[in-house]
Amino acid sequence: MKVHTVFALVLGVWSLVLSSAAQADEQTVLTRIAFGSCARQNIPQPIWHTIADAKPQLFLFIGDNIYGDTEDMDRMRAKYAQLGAKPGYQKLLKHCKLLATWDDHDYGVNDGGAEYPKKKESQQVFLEFYKEPKDSPRWKREGVYLAQTFGPKGKRVQVILLDTRYFRSKLKRAPKRPKGRGPYIDDDDTNKTMLGEAQWKWLGEQLRKPAELRIIASSIQVVPQHHGWEYWQNFPHERRRLFKLIGDTKANGVVFISGDRHHAEISRLPADDKENGAGYPLIDVTSSSLNQAGGGNFRERNDHRLGDNFGQLNFATIDIDWTKSNPAVQFDIRDIKGKAVRSLGVRLSELRENR
Ligand SMILES: [Fe+2]
Repeated sequence: MKVHTVFALVLGVWSLVLSSAAQADEQTVLTRIAFGSCARQNIPQPIWHTIADAKPQLFLFIGDNIYGDTEDMDRMRAKYAQLGAKPGYQKLLKHCKLLATWDDHDYGVNDGGAEYPKKKESQQVFLEFYKEPKDSPRWKREGVYLAQTFGPKGKRVQVILLDTRYFRSKLKRAPKRPKGRGPYIDDDDTNKTMLGEAQWKWLGEQLRKPAELRIIASSIQVVPQHHGWEYWQNFPHERRRLFKLIGDTKANGVVFISGDRHHAEISRLPADDKENGAGYPLIDVTSSSLNQAGGGNFRERNDHRLGDNFGQLNFATIDIDWTKSNPAVQFDIRDIKGKAVRSLGVRLSELRENR
């Protein structure tokens, strides 16, 4: 057989594999998704067993998935290997698809952004560890953002994973750290960006695609705006731009999930909030941490929080009941035993503008 014939055959088989993978996603009706963040790789991670027992079809690992914090890629790989060797993590992956994005620590530097010198290399290590498919656009572009839609028409879940690190401008620090707040102050310099122009353009394109429910995973919180740690409020104009983009693209069904904070909480920005350009209430479900109990700063100000925050180990589940004519979406933050400790239920009709 001639070389080019072999090549054509290999290519043919490969494209069959790829198209069947895409078809599988299209046919997978998601009814349970789980997510979590902040997993220190050098201490035990027993919560994976609870997550595996919850039997999600998809797990979204949304940042600080390891504490890499290095410019040495051999060290970064070794830390990923520690995560990969966790028995509970392996158990989950046997039956569950996993999609990941990163936050500062797995990106490579605490509170880091575009200035991190090893971002290209770190992206390669990330894609290798999560076994990114060969045809994924992530190998060809800068940043680890990704979108994928699951399920047939009428039951489509679009998962959008943002990269809030690769392009992010430098944060503005308070000259003197205010009492009871984090070190950063809002920066209205419109030259500063959270996503960078390429990712913004891509996000607009994604939001124009059809879906019934859209889960936007942002490693940092989107809705809260008072704590002064890392969150979208660091750049208020970028936070407004995100909400306005949802409105401008008429993207129904958006909910945010976030991590990073070492406590969990559910926030809700009302439709009539002056900053909310989406046209409907915006929910941000924060789950953190998988294996480092923060204890919970229950006095932290968050005017958009529903109920109290939760400071023990946690993950979260999203259950979708498609059998109802107005499908129901249930968010549960769960403790290490799998018990729901904070919950919110919404109907899809609540996640669209009343026109
Ligand atoms: Fe973080």
